[in-house]
Amino acid sequence: MADDLKERKPGGKATALIDGVLKEVKGLKDKALDDVQSLKKPQKTQLFKSIFRVTHDEKPRNRALGILSNVFLHLHPAKINRDAVAYNYTWGMGGITFYLFIVLTFTGVLLMFYYHPTKVQAFRDILYLEHDVPFGKLLRNMHRWAAHLMIITVWLHMFRVFLTGSYKKPREFNWMVGVILMLLTMLLSFTGYLLPDDQLGFWAVTVGTNMARATPLLGHEGPLGPEFGMTAFNDVRFALLGGSIVDSNALLRAYIWHCIAIPLIAGIFMAVHFWRVRKDGGISGPAPVMLESEIKEPRRF
Ligand code: HEM
Repeated sequence: MADDLKERKPGGKATALIDGVLKEVKGLKDKALDDVQSLKKPQKTQLFKSIFRVTHDEKPRNRALGILSNVFLHLHPAKINRDAVAYNYTWGMGGITFYLFIVLTFTGVLLMFYYHPTKVQAFRDILYLEHDVPFGKLLRNMHRWAAHLMIITVWLHMFRVFLTGSYKKPREFNWMVGVILMLLTMLLSFTGYLLPDDQLGFWAVTVGTNMARATPLLGHEGPLGPEFGMTAFNDVRFALLGGSIVDSNALLRAYIWHCIAIPLIAGIFMAVHFWRVRKDGGISGPAPVMLESEIKEPRRF
């Protein structure tokens, strides 16, 4: 071995050993260089590429790919009509309504940590939130104001959709989905009203559910209700309240509808609503600006 080292015979054991060590050192050097490079240009690393998958430069193709390959952004079309998304056309009202729904879901979940839907606890929990829970008053008011605002924005959104004629072909179906969303938004508001179990909520729900007595066929005071065998103890009002008066069952039912069932149903309808906006060719745009030379004479019969 010692002789091998002195002479470094080609093919000898010592030569193989030295070559091995040199190779290893070169490998380490290359890796160190790679590490330095990736610190300088993280976008060139495999990790970066595996997350972002496409280069993000200003070329139209790459910009489109950037949208299409992102789980959140792919909900948007890769290309849109600039005029159709202008705020003075949409007022941003659909988007703001959705944003408020997210705020309501988030603050609602936090409120659930402090609220018990029972006659003994409910109003006490509200007082506790108002006076003792850190930021409880802020949390409750965020939920309340977002709820009021959502009612206003959903109406304004519907008004805008109407004004821009977006209920017409091919958007008739999405208009109907919108009508259901509107109803669900109102129901969310109505069921939330009872939850503080204060006088305001109690009487609002008493009056509101009294209207259900007059439901055709299903209410015991409605047209053909009695003929259908409806009484105060089996009609639609009874089903809403879980009894014939606004009491603990009504509170529990309002709570379950408000916190679980309606938000879930509304979430599903919103997903369908947004999907349909895409499938109907994106947001309807204002009529494109035309040169006089481009305007065709209407056909005469
Ligand atoms: C929870 C309620 C609702 C949410 C979150 C919502 C959300 C949206 C969003 C984000 C858009 C895209 C355009 C924009 O922002 O204006 C849109 C479009 C649309 N919405 Fe709603 N919407 C709701 C309720 C309604 C209601 C009540 C109606 C009508 C009865 C409606 C009918 C439509 C129609 C027809 C479009 C397509 C408009 C166009 O192409 O110009 N939506 N909605």
